[in-house]
Amino acid sequence: MSWTLGVGGIGWAVALGWLGMVHATRADEPAPPSPSTTTTTVASLTYANDIAPIVQAKCQTCHRTGGVAPFGLTSFAQVKRWSAMIAEVVEQGRMPPWHANPAYGSFANDRSLTADQKRTLLSWIEQGCAPGDLDQAPPNPVFPGEWSIGTPDLVLTMPEPYKIKANGTMPYQWAAIPTGFTEDRWIESIEVKPGNKAVVHHVLVFVGRPGALRDQGRDPTSRQLGGYVPGDVNIRFPEGVAKKIPAGSTLLLQLHYTPNGKATTDQTSVGLIFAKQPPKYEAKTHGIFQTRFEIPPHASNHEVVKTYRVPADVKLLSLWPHMHLRGKDFRFTFRFPDGREEILLDVPSYDFAWQTVYQLKEPRLIPAGTVIECVAHFDNSENNPANPDPNATVRWGEQTDDEMMIGYLDYLLVRSDDPNPADADANAQVRAELPRNPERRPQIRERLLQRLAEGARRRNAEIPAQSPR
Ligand code: HEC
Repeated sequence: MSWTLGVGGIGWAVALGWLGMVHATRADEPAPPSPSTTTTTVASLTYANDIAPIVQAKCQTCHRTGGVAPFGLTSFAQVKRWSAMIAEVVEQGRMPPWHANPAYGSFANDRSLTADQKRTLLSWIEQGCAPGDLDQAPPNPVFPGEWSIGTPDLVLTMPEPYKIKANGTMPYQWAAIPTGFTEDRWIESIEVKPGNKAVVHHVLVFVGRPGALRDQGRDPTSRQLGGYVPGDVNIRFPEGVAKKIPAGSTLLLQLHYTPNGKATTDQTSVGLIFAKQPPKYEAKTHGIFQTRFEIPPHASNHEVVKTYRVPADVKLLSLWPHMHLRGKDFRFTFRFPDGREEILLDVPSYDFAWQTVYQLKEPRLIPAGTVIECVAHFDNSENNPANPDPNATVRWGEQTDDEMMIGYLDYLLVRSDDPNPADADANAQVRAELPRNPERRPQIRERLLQRLAEGARRRNAEIPAQSPR
Protein backbone atom coordinates (compact mmCIF):
# COMPACT_ATOMS: atom_id res chain seq x y z
CA MET A 1 0.00 0.00 0.00
CA SER A 2 1.39 3.41 -0.82
CA TRP A 3 0.59 6.96 0.06
CA THR A 4 -0.68 9.35 -2.54
CA LEU A 5 -1.09 13.05 -2.30
CA GLY A 6 -4.60 14.42 -2.50
CA VAL A 7 -6.01 15.44 -5.84
CA GLY A 8 -5.07 19.10 -5.71
CA GLY A 9 -1.57 20.15 -4.78
CA ILE A 10 -2.52 23.53 -3.34
CA GLY A 11 -4.36 22.40 -0.24
CA TRP A 12 -1.54 20.02 0.39
CA ALA A 13 1.08 22.73 0.35
CA VAL A 14 -1.04 25.00 2.49
CA ALA A 15 -1.72 22.29 5.05
CA LEU A 16 1.98 21.59 5.30
CA GLY A 17 2.79 25.25 5.67
CA TRP A 18 0.28 25.92 8.39
CA LEU A 19 1.02 23.49 11.07
CA GLY A 20 3.93 21.54 9.71
CA MET A 21 1.60 18.57 10.04
CA VAL A 22 1.11 16.15 7.27
CA HIS A 23 -2.12 15.08 5.68
CA ALA A 24 -2.59 12.42 3.09
CA THR A 25 -5.28 10.29 1.65
CA ARG A 26 -4.46 6.82 0.53
CA ALA A 27 -5.01 5.25 -2.81
CA ASP A 28 -7.17 2.43 -1.49
CA GLU A 29 -9.59 4.58 0.46
CA PRO A 30 -13.10 4.63 -1.01
CA ALA A 31 -13.45 7.77 -3.10
CA PRO A 32 -15.91 10.31 -1.72
CA PRO A 33 -19.02 10.75 -3.89
CA SER A 34 -18.26 13.31 -6.54
CA PRO A 35 -20.65 16.27 -6.63
CA SER A 36 -20.68 16.49 -10.40
CA THR A 37 -22.18 13.04 -10.77
CA THR A 38 -25.12 13.50 -8.41
CA THR A 39 -28.57 13.88 -9.86
CA THR A 40 -30.25 15.75 -7.01
CA THR A 41 -31.86 19.02 -8.03
CA VAL A 42 -29.87 21.64 -6.26
CA ALA A 43 -31.32 24.86 -7.63
CA SER A 44 -30.83 28.08 -5.68
CA LEU A 45 -28.93 26.92 -2.66
CA THR A 46 -28.12 29.86 -0.40
CA TYR A 47 -25.84 30.50 2.52
CA ALA A 48 -28.71 31.71 4.67
CA ASN A 49 -30.94 28.68 4.09
CA ASP A 50 -28.66 25.77 3.35
CA ILE A 51 -25.05 26.44 4.25
CA ALA A 52 -25.11 28.28 7.58
CA PRO A 53 -26.70 25.31 9.40
CA ILE A 54 -24.00 22.99 8.04
CA VAL A 55 -20.98 25.12 8.90
CA GLN A 56 -22.50 25.90 12.29
CA ALA A 57 -22.93 22.24 13.11
CA LYS A 58 -19.84 20.77 11.52
CA CYS A 59 -17.14 23.45 11.19
CA GLN A 60 -17.52 26.16 13.84
CA THR A 61 -16.50 24.01 16.79
CA CYS A 62 -12.98 24.57 15.46
CA HIS A 63 -13.26 27.34 12.86
CA ARG A 64 -14.05 30.30 15.13
CA THR A 65 -12.20 32.74 17.35
CA GLY A 66 -10.44 30.72 20.01
CA GLY A 67 -10.97 27.45 18.12
CA VAL A 68 -8.15 25.11 17.06
CA ALA A 69 -8.42 25.95 13.34
CA PRO A 70 -6.32 28.78 11.91
CA PHE A 71 -9.28 30.77 10.50
CA GLY A 72 -12.98 31.28 11.17
CA LEU A 73 -15.95 30.06 9.13
CA THR A 74 -18.54 32.06 11.01
CA SER A 75 -19.92 34.39 8.32
CA PHE A 76 -21.00 34.30 4.70
CA ALA A 77 -17.97 36.42 3.73
CA GLN A 78 -15.52 34.04 5.40
CA VAL A 79 -17.06 30.89 3.96
CA LYS A 80 -17.13 32.45 0.51
CA ARG A 81 -13.52 33.59 0.76
CA TRP A 82 -12.42 30.03 1.58
CA SER A 83 -14.88 28.33 -0.77
CA ALA A 84 -12.40 26.97 -3.33
CA MET A 85 -10.33 25.33 -0.67
CA ILE A 86 -13.41 24.13 1.20
CA ALA A 87 -14.57 22.36 -1.96
CA GLU A 88 -11.22 20.68 -2.25
CA VAL A 89 -10.84 19.48 1.36
CA VAL A 90 -14.48 18.44 1.66
CA GLU A 91 -14.33 16.48 -1.56
CA GLN A 92 -11.18 14.72 -0.40
CA GLY A 93 -12.72 14.04 3.00
CA ARG A 94 -9.91 15.90 4.80
CA MET A 95 -12.37 18.23 6.54
CA PRO A 96 -13.99 17.88 8.93
CA PRO A 97 -11.18 15.71 10.35
CA TRP A 98 -12.61 12.28 11.12
CA HIS A 99 -10.73 9.07 10.50
CA ALA A 100 -13.02 6.18 11.43
CA ASN A 101 -14.21 3.84 8.69
CA PRO A 102 -17.98 4.53 8.52
CA ALA A 103 -18.63 0.81 7.96
CA TYR A 104 -17.95 0.02 11.63
CA GLY A 105 -19.27 1.39 14.90
CA SER A 106 -21.20 4.58 15.49
CA PHE A 107 -19.85 7.41 17.55
CA ALA A 108 -21.34 10.24 19.56
CA ASN A 109 -18.60 12.64 18.49
CA ASP A 110 -18.66 11.77 14.77
CA ARG A 111 -17.59 15.01 13.10
CA SER A 112 -18.03 13.90 9.51
CA LEU A 113 -20.48 15.43 7.05
CA THR A 114 -23.45 13.33 5.97
CA ALA A 115 -23.58 12.53 2.25
CA ASP A 116 -26.37 15.11 1.96
CA GLN A 117 -24.46 17.86 3.74
CA LYS A 118 -21.44 17.19 1.58
CA ARG A 119 -23.46 17.35 -1.63
CA THR A 120 -25.20 20.57 -0.54
CA LEU A 121 -21.96 22.29 0.39
CA LEU A 122 -20.20 21.31 -2.83
CA SER A 123 -23.16 22.22 -5.04
CA TRP A 124 -23.51 25.63 -3.38
CA ILE A 125 -19.86 26.37 -4.10
CA GLU A 126 -20.20 25.08 -7.67
CA GLN A 127 -23.22 27.37 -8.18
CA GLY A 128 -21.22 30.44 -7.14
CA CYS A 129 -21.91 30.83 -3.40
CA ALA A 130 -25.23 32.70 -3.30
CA PRO A 131 -25.76 34.56 0.00
CA GLY A 132 -29.58 34.48 0.11
CA ASP A 133 -31.25 36.73 2.65
CA LEU A 134 -28.51 36.96 5.26
CA ASP A 135 -30.88 38.55 7.77
CA GLN A 136 -32.80 35.28 7.74
CA ALA A 137 -29.71 33.11 8.39
CA PRO A 138 -29.85 31.24 11.68
CA PRO A 139 -27.67 32.89 14.34
CA ASN A 140 -24.30 31.23 14.99
CA PRO A 141 -24.25 29.04 18.06
CA VAL A 142 -22.73 30.60 21.16
CA PHE A 143 -19.73 28.57 22.22
CA PRO A 144 -18.78 28.35 25.85
CA GLY A 145 -16.12 30.80 26.97
CA GLU A 146 -12.70 29.88 28.17
CA TRP A 147 -13.65 26.37 29.27
CA SER A 148 -15.83 24.15 27.10
CA ILE A 149 -16.92 22.04 30.11
CA GLY A 150 -18.33 25.16 31.80
CA THR A 151 -16.72 26.94 34.74
CA PRO A 152 -14.55 24.38 36.54
CA ASP A 153 -14.96 23.82 40.28
CA LEU A 154 -11.18 23.68 40.52
CA VAL A 155 -8.34 24.70 38.22
CA LEU A 156 -4.95 23.10 38.87
CA THR A 157 -2.06 24.81 37.08
CA MET A 158 1.54 23.74 36.57
CA PRO A 159 3.45 25.27 39.47
CA GLU A 160 5.94 26.93 37.14
CA PRO A 161 6.11 27.83 33.43
CA TYR A 162 8.19 25.53 31.23
CA LYS A 163 10.61 26.96 28.68
CA ILE A 164 10.05 25.91 25.08
CA LYS A 165 13.04 26.33 22.81
CA ALA A 166 12.71 27.96 19.41
CA ASN A 167 13.62 25.06 17.16
CA GLY A 168 14.09 21.34 16.94
CA THR A 169 12.26 18.67 18.88
CA MET A 170 11.86 18.36 22.63
CA PRO A 171 11.69 15.19 24.68
CA TYR A 172 8.36 14.76 26.46
CA GLN A 173 8.24 16.91 29.58
CA TRP A 174 6.57 15.95 32.84
CA ALA A 175 4.95 18.24 35.38
CA ALA A 176 3.57 17.33 38.81
CA ILE A 177 0.66 19.21 40.36
CA PRO A 178 -0.30 18.22 43.93
CA THR A 179 -4.11 18.17 44.28
CA GLY A 180 -4.11 18.77 48.02
CA PHE A 181 -7.29 16.63 48.25
CA THR A 182 -7.90 15.49 51.82
CA GLU A 183 -10.54 12.98 50.69
CA ASP A 184 -11.30 11.00 47.53
CA ARG A 185 -12.97 13.21 44.91
CA TRP A 186 -15.24 12.16 42.03
CA ILE A 187 -14.68 13.95 38.75
CA GLU A 188 -17.53 14.50 36.30
CA SER A 189 -15.74 16.59 33.66
CA ILE A 190 -12.10 17.22 32.87
CA GLU A 191 -10.56 19.72 30.51
CA VAL A 192 -6.91 20.36 29.89
CA LYS A 193 -6.20 23.92 28.82
CA PRO A 194 -2.80 24.43 27.21
CA GLY A 195 -1.12 27.57 28.48
CA ASN A 196 0.28 28.15 24.99
CA LYS A 197 -1.71 26.49 22.20
CA ALA A 198 0.91 27.37 19.60
CA VAL A 199 3.44 24.92 21.02
CA VAL A 200 1.42 22.35 22.98
CA HIS A 201 0.80 19.34 20.76
CA HIS A 202 -0.68 17.08 23.35
CA VAL A 203 -0.97 16.59 27.09
CA LEU A 204 -1.83 13.41 28.95
CA VAL A 205 -2.87 13.65 32.59
CA PHE A 206 -2.29 10.81 35.04
CA VAL A 207 -3.30 10.44 38.66
CA GLY A 208 -0.10 9.70 40.58
CA ARG A 209 0.46 8.68 44.16
CA PRO A 210 0.76 11.35 46.86
CA GLY A 211 4.11 13.06 46.55
CA ALA A 212 4.74 11.71 43.06
CA LEU A 213 7.53 13.55 41.37
CA ARG A 214 7.79 14.87 37.86
CA ASP A 215 9.93 12.02 36.66
CA GLN A 216 7.60 9.37 38.03
CA GLY A 217 5.08 9.85 35.27
CA ARG A 218 5.72 6.40 33.92
CA ASP A 219 5.19 4.65 37.24
CA PRO A 220 2.76 1.87 36.30
CA THR A 221 0.61 2.60 39.36
CA SER A 222 -0.42 5.98 37.95
CA ARG A 223 -3.71 6.06 36.08
CA GLN A 224 -4.74 8.12 33.13
CA LEU A 225 -7.29 10.81 33.90
CA GLY A 226 -7.68 12.80 30.72
CA GLY A 227 -5.79 14.66 28.08
CA TYR A 228 -5.57 17.32 25.44
CA VAL A 229 -5.09 16.36 21.82
CA PRO A 230 -5.89 18.45 18.74
CA GLY A 231 -9.64 18.48 18.25
CA ASP A 232 -10.75 16.71 21.42
CA VAL A 233 -10.43 19.02 24.33
CA ASN A 234 -12.58 17.70 27.10
CA ILE A 235 -14.11 14.69 28.77
CA ARG A 236 -17.63 14.68 30.09
CA PHE A 237 -18.86 11.40 31.49
CA PRO A 238 -22.44 10.22 31.04
CA GLU A 239 -24.82 10.76 33.93
CA GLY A 240 -24.05 8.65 36.97
CA VAL A 241 -20.45 8.11 35.87
CA ALA A 242 -17.34 9.76 37.29
CA LYS A 243 -13.65 9.20 37.65
CA LYS A 244 -11.99 9.02 41.05
CA ILE A 245 -9.02 11.01 42.23
CA PRO A 246 -7.91 9.46 45.54
CA ALA A 247 -7.09 11.71 48.50
CA GLY A 248 -3.61 13.19 48.40
CA SER A 249 -3.02 12.35 44.72
CA THR A 250 -0.67 14.30 42.54
CA LEU A 251 -1.61 14.99 38.92
CA LEU A 252 1.17 14.10 36.52
CA LEU A 253 1.16 15.82 33.15
CA GLN A 254 2.98 14.42 30.16
CA LEU A 255 3.55 17.37 27.84
CA HIS A 256 4.51 17.15 24.21
CA TYR A 257 5.81 20.48 22.98
CA THR A 258 6.41 21.25 19.30
CA PRO A 259 8.74 24.27 19.02
CA ASN A 260 7.47 26.72 16.40
CA GLY A 261 10.41 28.99 15.64
CA LYS A 262 10.12 31.29 18.65
CA ALA A 263 11.39 30.56 22.15
CA THR A 264 8.44 30.79 24.51
CA THR A 265 6.92 29.32 27.68
CA ASP A 266 3.91 27.24 28.64
CA GLN A 267 2.00 26.78 31.87
CA THR A 268 -0.87 24.37 31.27
CA SER A 269 -3.94 23.99 33.49
CA VAL A 270 -6.39 21.21 34.26
CA GLY A 271 -10.01 22.16 34.99
CA LEU A 272 -12.15 19.78 37.05
CA ILE A 273 -15.87 19.66 37.72
CA PHE A 274 -16.78 17.51 40.71
CA ALA A 275 -19.74 15.12 40.67
CA LYS A 276 -22.52 16.53 42.84
CA GLN A 277 -23.07 13.12 44.40
CA PRO A 278 -21.13 9.85 44.44
CA PRO A 279 -21.57 8.22 41.04
CA LYS A 280 -23.17 4.88 40.29
CA TYR A 281 -20.17 3.88 38.22
CA GLU A 282 -16.50 4.59 38.20
CA ALA A 283 -15.02 5.34 34.77
CA LYS A 284 -11.65 3.76 34.15
CA THR A 285 -9.12 3.82 31.36
CA HIS A 286 -7.05 0.88 30.24
CA GLY A 287 -4.37 0.71 27.60
CA ILE A 288 -3.85 -2.46 25.57
CA PHE A 289 -0.26 -2.03 24.45
CA GLN A 290 2.40 -3.94 22.65
CA THR A 291 5.89 -2.74 23.51
CA ARG A 292 7.82 -5.52 21.80
CA PHE A 293 8.17 -4.82 18.12
CA GLU A 294 10.82 -3.80 15.67
CA ILE A 295 9.85 -2.04 12.47
CA PRO A 296 12.53 -2.67 9.83
CA PRO A 297 13.84 0.18 7.67
CA HIS A 298 11.62 0.90 4.64
CA ALA A 299 8.90 -1.55 5.72
CA SER A 300 5.67 -0.14 4.31
CA ASN A 301 3.10 -2.26 6.14
CA HIS A 302 4.60 -3.66 9.33
CA GLU A 303 1.97 -5.38 11.48
CA VAL A 304 1.89 -5.23 15.28
CA VAL A 305 -0.78 -7.13 17.21
CA LYS A 306 -1.83 -7.31 20.84
CA THR A 307 -4.75 -9.25 22.24
CA TYR A 308 -6.31 -8.84 25.64
CA ARG A 309 -8.89 -10.96 27.45
CA VAL A 310 -11.41 -8.87 29.40
CA PRO A 311 -11.55 -10.33 32.93
CA ALA A 312 -14.97 -8.96 33.95
CA ASP A 313 -18.19 -7.58 32.50
CA VAL A 314 -17.55 -3.99 31.51
CA LYS A 315 -19.44 -1.24 29.77
CA LEU A 316 -17.33 0.24 27.04
CA LEU A 317 -17.51 4.03 26.63
CA SER A 318 -14.83 4.85 24.10
CA LEU A 319 -11.87 3.63 22.06
CA TRP A 320 -8.70 5.53 21.28
CA PRO A 321 -5.85 4.25 19.13
CA HIS A 322 -2.44 5.78 19.77
CA MET A 323 0.61 5.53 17.51
CA HIS A 324 3.19 8.04 16.33
CA LEU A 325 4.27 9.31 12.90
CA ARG A 326 4.62 5.92 11.21
CA GLY A 327 1.18 4.80 12.39
CA LYS A 328 -0.83 3.79 9.35
CA ASP A 329 -3.99 2.00 10.46
CA PHE A 330 -5.50 0.59 13.64
CA ARG A 331 -8.39 -1.77 14.23
CA PHE A 332 -10.18 -3.05 17.36
CA THR A 333 -11.84 -6.44 16.85
CA PHE A 334 -13.94 -7.95 19.65
CA ARG A 335 -14.36 -11.74 19.85
CA PHE A 336 -17.24 -12.41 22.21
CA PRO A 337 -17.47 -15.56 24.36
CA ASP A 338 -20.43 -16.78 22.26
CA GLY A 339 -18.20 -16.86 19.17
CA ARG A 340 -19.46 -13.70 17.53
CA GLU A 341 -16.87 -11.31 16.23
CA GLU A 342 -17.28 -7.60 15.64
CA ILE A 343 -15.07 -4.72 14.60
CA LEU A 344 -15.92 -1.82 16.90
CA LEU A 345 -13.46 0.67 15.44
CA ASP A 346 -11.44 0.73 12.24
CA VAL A 347 -9.17 3.67 11.48
CA PRO A 348 -7.92 3.02 7.96
CA SER A 349 -5.75 6.12 7.67
CA TYR A 350 -4.43 7.09 11.06
CA ASP A 351 -3.19 10.65 11.41
CA PHE A 352 -0.91 11.54 14.33
CA ALA A 353 -2.12 15.13 14.17
CA TRP A 354 -5.68 14.03 15.04
CA GLN A 355 -5.68 11.67 18.00
CA THR A 356 -9.40 11.31 18.31
CA VAL A 357 -11.10 9.59 21.23
CA TYR A 358 -13.93 7.68 19.53
CA GLN A 359 -16.88 7.89 21.93
CA LEU A 360 -19.42 5.12 21.39
CA LYS A 361 -22.91 6.38 20.67
CA GLU A 362 -24.23 4.07 23.40
CA PRO A 363 -22.12 2.44 26.13
CA ARG A 364 -21.71 -1.17 25.11
CA LEU A 365 -21.74 -4.23 27.39
CA ILE A 366 -18.61 -6.32 26.87
CA PRO A 367 -18.92 -9.64 28.66
CA ALA A 368 -16.08 -11.20 30.65
CA GLY A 369 -13.99 -13.47 28.48
CA THR A 370 -14.24 -11.28 25.38
CA VAL A 371 -10.93 -11.13 23.57
CA ILE A 372 -10.04 -7.75 22.15
CA GLU A 373 -7.58 -7.85 19.30
CA CYS A 374 -5.77 -4.65 18.39
CA VAL A 375 -4.03 -4.74 15.02
CA ALA A 376 -1.87 -1.85 13.88
CA HIS A 377 0.20 -1.29 10.78
CA PHE A 378 3.17 1.01 10.45
CA ASP A 379 4.58 2.62 7.32
CA ASN A 380 8.32 3.17 7.64
CA SER A 381 8.81 3.67 3.91
CA GLU A 382 9.78 6.83 2.06
CA ASN A 383 6.23 6.97 0.69
CA ASN A 384 4.96 8.01 4.11
CA PRO A 385 5.38 11.81 4.02
CA ALA A 386 5.29 11.97 7.83
CA ASN A 387 8.15 9.51 8.22
CA PRO A 388 11.11 11.20 9.95
CA ASP A 389 13.63 8.55 8.80
CA PRO A 390 12.88 5.54 6.56
CA ASN A 391 16.38 4.15 7.24
CA ALA A 392 15.75 3.73 10.94
CA THR A 393 14.83 0.52 12.73
CA VAL A 394 11.98 1.68 14.93
CA ARG A 395 11.03 0.39 18.37
CA TRP A 396 8.76 1.39 21.24
CA GLY A 397 9.74 4.71 22.77
CA GLU A 398 8.52 7.95 24.25
CA GLN A 399 9.67 10.26 21.48
CA THR A 400 7.70 11.11 18.36
CA ASP A 401 10.49 9.51 16.30
CA ASP A 402 10.00 6.26 18.24
CA GLU A 403 6.76 4.37 17.95
CA MET A 404 3.93 3.34 20.23
CA MET A 405 1.10 0.89 19.82
CA ILE A 406 -1.70 1.42 22.32
CA GLY A 407 -5.41 0.77 22.10
CA TYR A 408 -7.03 2.71 24.95
CA LEU A 409 -10.44 1.77 26.34
CA ASP A 410 -12.63 3.87 28.63
CA TYR A 411 -15.03 1.61 30.47
CA LEU A 412 -17.15 1.05 33.56
CA LEU A 413 -17.10 -2.00 35.75
CA VAL A 414 -20.59 -3.48 35.71
CA ARG A 415 -20.16 -5.02 39.17
CA SER A 416 -17.94 -3.49 41.77
CA ASP A 417 -16.68 -6.85 43.04
CA ASP A 418 -15.37 -7.87 39.62
CA PRO A 419 -11.66 -7.79 38.93
CA ASN A 420 -10.62 -4.55 37.34
CA PRO A 421 -9.16 -5.00 33.84
CA ALA A 422 -6.63 -2.25 34.46
CA ASP A 423 -5.36 -3.97 37.62
CA ALA A 424 -5.38 -7.41 36.08
CA ASP A 425 -3.34 -6.27 33.12
CA ALA A 426 -0.94 -3.98 34.95
CA ASN A 427 -0.16 -6.77 37.38
CA ALA A 428 0.47 -9.15 34.53
CA GLN A 429 2.82 -6.61 33.01
CA VAL A 430 4.71 -6.06 36.22
CA ARG A 431 5.05 -9.84 36.57
CA ALA A 432 6.27 -10.11 33.01
CA GLU A 433 8.91 -7.50 33.78
CA LEU A 434 10.33 -9.43 36.74
CA PRO A 435 12.44 -11.98 34.90
CA ARG A 436 13.66 -9.42 32.36
CA ASN A 437 14.97 -6.92 34.87
CA PRO A 438 16.57 -8.93 37.67
CA GLU A 439 18.35 -5.90 39.10
CA ARG A 440 15.03 -4.08 39.55
CA ARG A 441 13.34 -7.08 41.13
CA PRO A 442 12.87 -5.70 44.65
CA GLN A 443 11.37 -2.45 43.34
CA ILE A 444 9.08 -4.20 40.91
CA ARG A 445 7.95 -6.72 43.48
CA GLU A 446 7.24 -3.97 45.99
CA ARG A 447 5.16 -2.17 43.41
CA LEU A 448 3.28 -5.30 42.53
CA LEU A 449 2.37 -5.97 46.16
CA GLN A 450 1.37 -2.40 46.69
CA ARG A 451 -0.78 -2.55 43.62
CA LEU A 452 -2.56 -5.70 44.64
CA ALA A 453 -3.24 -4.22 48.09
CA GLU A 454 -4.50 -1.02 46.51
CA GLY A 455 -6.85 -2.94 44.23
CA ALA A 456 -8.27 -4.92 47.15
CA ARG A 457 -8.74 -1.79 49.23
CA ARG A 458 -10.47 -0.04 46.39
CA ARG A 459 -12.80 -2.91 45.68
CA ASN A 460 -13.76 -3.15 49.34
CA ALA A 461 -14.46 0.54 49.48
CA GLU A 462 -16.35 0.73 46.22
CA ILE A 463 -19.99 1.78 46.21
CA PRO A 464 -22.29 -1.19 45.61
CA ALA A 465 -23.03 -1.67 41.92
CA GLN A 466 -26.55 -0.68 40.94
CA SER A 467 -26.78 -2.43 37.67
CA PRO A 468 -28.56 -5.72 37.10
CA ARG A 469 -26.37 -8.33 35.54
C1 HEC B 1 -12.07 19.37 14.86
C2 HEC B 1 -11.69 20.65 14.33
C3 HEC B 1 -12.09 21.04 12.92
C4 HEC B 1 -13.32 20.90 12.33
C5 HEC B 1 -14.60 20.34 12.94
C6 HEC B 1 -13.18 21.43 10.99
N1 HEC B 1 -11.91 21.87 10.80
FE1 HEC B 1 -11.14 22.65 9.08
N2 HEC B 1 -9.33 22.82 9.92
C7 HEC B 1 -9.00 22.50 11.23
C8 HEC B 1 -7.59 22.76 11.45
C9 HEC B 1 -6.86 22.57 12.76
C10 HEC B 1 -7.07 23.22 10.25
C11 HEC B 1 -5.61 23.60 9.96
C12 HEC B 1 -4.93 22.56 9.15
C13 HEC B 1 -4.92 21.23 9.81
O1 HEC B 1 -4.41 21.08 10.90
O2 HEC B 1 -5.47 20.29 9.20
C14 HEC B 1 -8.18 23.23 9.30
C15 HEC B 1 -8.06 23.61 7.97
C16 HEC B 1 -9.11 23.75 7.10
C17 HEC B 1 -8.98 24.25 5.74
C18 HEC B 1 -7.71 24.67 5.05
C19 HEC B 1 -7.12 23.53 4.25
C20 HEC B 1 -6.19 22.69 5.01
O3 HEC B 1 -6.18 21.48 4.78
O4 HEC B 1 -5.44 23.21 5.84
C21 HEC B 1 -10.24 24.26 5.22
C22 HEC B 1 -10.64 24.73 3.85
C23 HEC B 1 -11.14 23.76 6.24
N3 HEC B 1 -10.43 23.47 7.36
C24 HEC B 1 -12.51 23.64 6.08
C25 HEC B 1 -13.35 23.06 7.02
C26 HEC B 1 -14.77 22.90 6.82
C27 HEC B 1 -15.54 23.35 5.59
C28 HEC B 1 -15.26 22.30 7.94
C29 HEC B 1 -16.68 21.87 8.21
C30 HEC B 1 -17.40 21.22 7.17
C31 HEC B 1 -14.13 22.08 8.84
N4 HEC B 1 -13.00 22.57 8.24
C32 HEC B 1 -14.22 21.48 10.08
C33 HEC B 1 -9.88 22.02 12.18
C34 HEC B 1 -11.21 21.66 11.95
